[in-house]
Amino acid sequence: MNDCRHILENLSATVMVLDSSLRLLSINPAGEMLFEVSARQILGQPITDLLPHNAALIQQLNEALRSGHPFTEHGLRASLADGRDITVDCAATPLAVGVTTEMLIELTPVDRLLRIAREEKMLDQHATSRALIRGLAHEIKNPLGGLRGAAQLLERKLPNNELAEYTRIIIREADRLRGLVDRMIGPNVPLNKRPTNIHQVFEHVRSLILAEIPEGISVRRDYDPSLPEFLGDSDQLIQAILNIARNAAQALDGKGAVWLRSRVERKFTIGQNRHRLTLRAEIEDNGPGVPDELKEHIFYPMITGRAEGTGLGLSIAQDIIHQHGGMIECVSRPLQTIFRIYLPMEVGNG
Ligand SMILES: Nc1ncnc2c1ncn2[C@@H]1O[C@H](COP(=O)(O)OP(=O)(O)OP(=O)(O)O)[C@@H](O)[C@H]1O
Ligand SMILES: [Mg+2]
Repeated sequence: MNDCRHILENLSATVMVLDSSLRLLSINPAGEMLFEVSARQILGQPITDLLPHNAALIQQLNEALRSGHPFTEHGLRASLADGRDITVDCAATPLAVGVTTEMLIELTPVDRLLRIAREEKMLDQHATSRALIRGLAHEIKNPLGGLRGAAQLLERKLPNNELAEYTRIIIREADRLRGLVDRMIGPNVPLNKRPTNIHQVFEHVRSLILAEIPEGISVRRDYDPSLPEFLGDSDQLIQAILNIARNAAQALDGKGAVWLRSRVERKFTIGQNRHRLTLRAEIEDNGPGVPDELKEHIFYPMITGRAEGTGLGLSIAQDIIHQHGGMIECVSRPLQTIFRIYLPMEVGNG
């Protein structure tokens, strides 16, 4: 029995047992993670508390209870109580227990498998595009130095001051371009990893954002205080999260809220690596959402929806998170945009 429990507790699939009126009798830790609730809170509750608005599934479960026949549903899309949508493979098996029937349910998230494949492809594409941009940026920087130097020499030799206006333009624009190119190359310094508290990072970002946004925008905290420290470069993480939070504040256009959220995920896979503990840091806003035509590409450099944007903020943020062995994703619809950062909290622990 102990062995069974150990297996159940370490499964990445959700396993639940329901009684004959579809109330929850037990749920394993993967299930608690999926529904983001603790077993204590939900044991004894009807399954509709966990899976509201899924009438077809409930009907199928009742049917299976009545007939005693198991069923499997692949790629089932279900809405959770907190508004998230998940795609799962669902297997339901009626179990005769004495005179009553219980229902064993296994849910395997499909999203994750799809996401891993998608993420790997994206990482690959981004590595290529960043290498290209780095190469190009270096090529631009060298002649730019020469151009600026020559404009300065020219300025000294000019017969009258009026013409100096033109050399100043050359110098100013060369400086602007250099700044841009430096940002494109990104923070090209090795990470200085130290024990880091994500809430200190969030608080730092929060104070920076509060200093620059109008009064109509609030920056709210939703922290899991039990989160342990992890090894990270807090300066760079501040940069990454600031870029994202600043976008959120800019999207709000003077009115709305930004949430900074921290959670922990157990047994989470990033790329090929499965981590025992993963930090999930979220930056959410209730603005208009990422424009549809940008959604697929916002992490690419130079992609911007703002007239004065350079389109580098998210690309730099992504770079920093990847250097930490983490990943970043965005889900966005009008009134709810969430940027999710996943960071492994321990090294070499599969
Ligand atoms: N929270 C958000 N809500 C709506 N749109 C967003 C949000 N975050 C990002 N975007 C869109 O993604 C685009 C890319 O963001 P990114 O930070 O990479 O560049 P930028 O903000 O345009 O310029 P930069 O950050 O370099 O000054 C933004 O221009 C905006 O259109
Ligand atoms: Mg930005």
